[in-house]
Amino acid sequence: MGRVPMKKYLVDDTDYYVYSRGRGPILLFAHGFPFDSRLFVPVVDLLESRFHCVVPDLRGFGMTKLGANGHNPEGHPRVKMGRFADDLAILTAILACQEHNKDAKIVLCGLSMGGYISLSFARRHPERLDGLIFCDSNTTQDSPEKVQNRLALADTVDATNVAQTVDNMIPTLLCGETLEHRHDIVEQLRTIMRSQTPAAFAAASRGMAKRGDSSDILSQITAPTLVLGGEYDQLSNVACLDAIAAKIPNATRATIPHSGHLPPLENPEAFAKAVVKWYDEKIGSTH
Ligand code: MLT
Repeated sequence: MGRVPMKKYLVDDTDYYVYSRGRGPILLFAHGFPFDSRLFVPVVDLLESRFHCVVPDLRGFGMTKLGANGHNPEGHPRVKMGRFADDLAILTAILACQEHNKDAKIVLCGLSMGGYISLSFARRHPERLDGLIFCDSNTTQDSPEKVQNRLALADTVDATNVAQTVDNMIPTLLCGETLEHRHDIVEQLRTIMRSQTPAAFAAASRGMAKRGDSSDILSQITAPTLVLGGEYDQLSNVACLDAIAAKIPNATRATIPHSGHLPPLENPEAFAKAVVKWYDEKIGSTH
């Protein structure tokens, strides 16, 4: 999966590389771990006729460098969810200025780690949200065991073990049908994940380990929200996403069939259809 031409924006202390297509309301995507903007290319192909799709490689991932602020005070790679959220707010402000509407709002779509980031964004920059799409993610803090696993990964990941780390993760990310019958998707995903640097793995792992519980923010999200997940997601299952949707005042729930944790790759058509239907019902009609 080759890289498409990317735009470049100076965000805080690093150049953010951004895949940008289409015209219309801004739909900003935040990818999961350990991916980059390529996760969303199949859905952008389907959504660019309706939205200005903006898909950054988040700090440290893809072509975007970690920058000094992608490190903790001891100098180790670490990006907290709030840092990613603030980066996206800066990017939003830049795009708003380009559109000559400095107060422009966006629809933010965050998948898994991107979902953690989207909740941080909802807490820190609620005035920017026209809508939220919360995909295959959760709101709870990691268990102590999970924290230890993340910190161990951060401390041990290097160029010699990225490939093995990725190969161990893939069966948990995709549904059985994708794993068995869609070898093209499995290989696309492997390529995306194996191309991330050890520093990116370490930075985001330490950042996720550090995150707190976000459940309290759900009842305060006033923007229309689509809670979306793959039917066979092992990491954020249907019941968990149902419970999250029930706590958000203006939530719509959609389940994507034939998909595990990564609906934008596994079933982009159903993903795009759910987004357009929700947008037209909940947001488009109010503009
Ligand atoms: C992701 O897809 O972003 C990860 O599963 C998030 C996590 O490790 O919690």
